[in-house]
Amino acid sequence: MSPSQDVPNDDAIKTMKLYTHVERIQREVKSRFGSEAIDPIALSEIDCMHYEGNDAIEDVIQAINLNSSSKVLDVGSGFGGVARVLSAQSKCTTVAMELQSDIHNCAEDLTKRCNLSDLVKHVEGDVLNYDLSKLGDGPSTFDGLVSFLVFLHIPDKLSLLNSCANMLKAGGTLFVEDYYRRSSFTDAELESLSTDVFCQDLPTQDEYIAALESAGFDNIQFIDKTKEWATFVKGRLAKFEGNKESFISSHGEPTYASLHYFYKSVVTLFVGGNLGGVRIIASKKES
Ligand SMILES: C[S@@+](CC[C@H](N)C(=O)[O-])C[C@H]1O[C@@H](n2cnc3c(N)ncnc32)[C@H](O)[C@@H]1O
Repeated sequence: MSPSQDVPNDDAIKTMKLYTHVERIQREVKSRFGSEAIDPIALSEIDCMHYEGNDAIEDVIQAINLNSSSKVLDVGSGFGGVARVLSAQSKCTTVAMELQSDIHNCAEDLTKRCNLSDLVKHVEGDVLNYDLSKLGDGPSTFDGLVSFLVFLHIPDKLSLLNSCANMLKAGGTLFVEDYYRRSSFTDAELESLSTDVFCQDLPTQDEYIAALESAGFDNIQFIDKTKEWATFVKGRLAKFEGNKESFISSHGEPTYASLHYFYKSVVTLFVGGNLGGVRIIASKKES
């Protein structure tokens, strides 16, 4: 696959049904909060696409030791939930980078509604080729780079990790949650990963660690999360099914069917035992 084919684009990534029917978020926000200012913690029940909710974000704050002087890049920020909770809780400044324009626009609007625009800046772009000068400063400016369930969309891990290293200060911390390959996938799993999760290839643990080292990271922690995430995605599906009638009355049957298909596909993948979940914490080498 050529590097240009590796880069996801707005249309191709929409085979993943989590990224369709985006208007469900605004509808849910309107029904829960009306036109009032919104508390980002309350909003996080609606806007986060990662696993284990705000506990995972608290872990980032501890791991990077974030405070009001810290600057963080959230790669693949989705609806902006992670960035808003990071900044609301630690007072750090966060740049939230998102590829898909409809999701980016929604995220920016939600940040305004939370009165967090001073701390959270949204940029639309691709981490593989984002022009850092657009941020008003050059490379190597971030104390931390966080990315939840985004790297799985990008097969060329070395290019991706090189880009990440380029954005971090020397000694800065990378905090990533991602999928990896525990053992060979079946044909059905490969098809589901490709179409339902927009994931064309996944590294093994050894391949992942080798790419991190090549990109200039050390102090690498590769923390297996497979068991916890399998439990989490099963619980997410059960909760969604339990709320079926209310969800359909708010958002309609097609939106329910679409999200249900996605949640079920992810459960099937984790139950298969070949898909792994990982939290990676690493430092950019000092020199
Ligand atoms: C599963 S969502 C997670 C969103 C967010 N991190 C969260 O946890 O709520 C992955 C997001 O990564 C974005 N993404 C995928 N490839 C990207 C890229 N090359 N550059 C920037 N964002 C990307 C997708 O558009 C999507 O919104």
